Amino acid sequence: MSDHRLLYLSYADVDNLGVTMAQVIDALDIAFREKGLGKVEMPPKPGVHPTNPDNFIHAMPAYIPALQSAGVKWVAGYPDNYKRDLPYITGLLIWNDVETGLPLSVMDCVWITAMRTGAATAVSARYLARPDSSTAGILGCGVQGRTNLEALNVLFPLKKAKAYDVRPEMAQRYAREMSERLGLEVTAVTEPRAAVVGSDLVVTAGPILKQPHATIKAGWLEEGAFASLVDYDTYWDRPALKEASKFCTDDLAQLLYYQRAGYFQDIPPIHADLGELATGQKPGRETPEERTITANLGLALDDMAVAPLVYKKAVETGAGTWLSL
Ligand SMILES: NC(=O)c1ccc[n+]([C@@H]2O[C@H](COP(=O)([O-])OP(=O)(O)OC[C@H]3O[C@@H](n4cnc5c(N)ncnc54)[C@H](O)[C@@H]3O)[C@@H](O)[C@H]2O)c1
Repeated sequence: MSDHRLLYLSYADVDNLGVTMAQVIDALDIAFREKGLGKVEMPPKPGVHPTNPDNFIHAMPAYIPALQSAGVKWVAGYPDNYKRDLPYITGLLIWNDVETGLPLSVMDCVWITAMRTGAATAVSARYLARPDSSTAGILGCGVQGRTNLEALNVLFPLKKAKAYDVRPEMAQRYAREMSERLGLEVTAVTEPRAAVVGSDLVVTAGPILKQPHATIKAGWLEEGAFASLVDYDTYWDRPALKEASKFCTDDLAQLLYYQRAGYFQDIPPIHADLGELATGQKPGRETPEERTITANLGLALDDMAVAPLVYKKAVETGAGTWLSL
């Protein structure tokens, strides 16, 4: 084994590669079509919950033959980490050679998780949102709030965004940063309702809590709007969810798995998963008036769609550190 090596990629290595959001969106689109055709292997993610039921560390394996990609992500989410000045999401991804099974790379997964989750919202929105959507409402102005807006901006003619955070200084910083980065008019709002009412695209990206705080009420989501529940069902009152004409997810098996674990109680029936939307087996939006919602849980296939882009770019550019197996 002494002549076998793997490429270790730190957060900074991955972040500096210059893989773009448009590339990540394209990779996810391929992966979801493959999933719709039944050509992806991906068991629902098992997890442990150290010290607090809202903390998680999940194991997320997947194999996508069309992308020659197999591996596992070991990812933690700790809602109180901000009190220690640490990120909510941390972890590593092990990427394997599909022919031999040998590990080819160990990479920090924070950048991949941030980008692929935003991209999954955008891919869902491609099928479920109005193509002329121009105003976004973002609730939770952290990592996901940023990448979700960035991804939506790739696919939609966005002009404005309204940003809400329980910590007003986070919303203000977000508004400054994102206006400059994306060239949009991004304003901080002081009430959650102001971020939802009048928005074509709504993303909730606060902490995932087992007991939903159910802040978003019926009547807030506009006719014709689309919402992505990055923080699962935490933000939404049940009558507000039930206003959806089409309620979708990225993977039905994982949604059922989460329901058994106590999340997503009393939600509307599932119209389609993202594989079915991507292959056209189920229709996406059919009229400009429908309210559409997706609860994307975050799948190992998202990560394994992006890992090859990262690995190839790193090898091409000489990034990272080679380690002996
Ligand atoms: N579905 C998925 O695929 C997926 C993937 C990754 C992360 N997540 C989830 O996305 C969420 C955000 O993750 P992140 O990495 O952006 O975290 P982050 O800590 O970077 O950002 C979270 C932000 O939410 C704010 N916040 C807290 N409570 C809020 C509330 N009630 N209303 C509005 N804002 C509130 C915080 O002040 C913070 O700015 C987490 O729940 C995480 O588990 C989901």
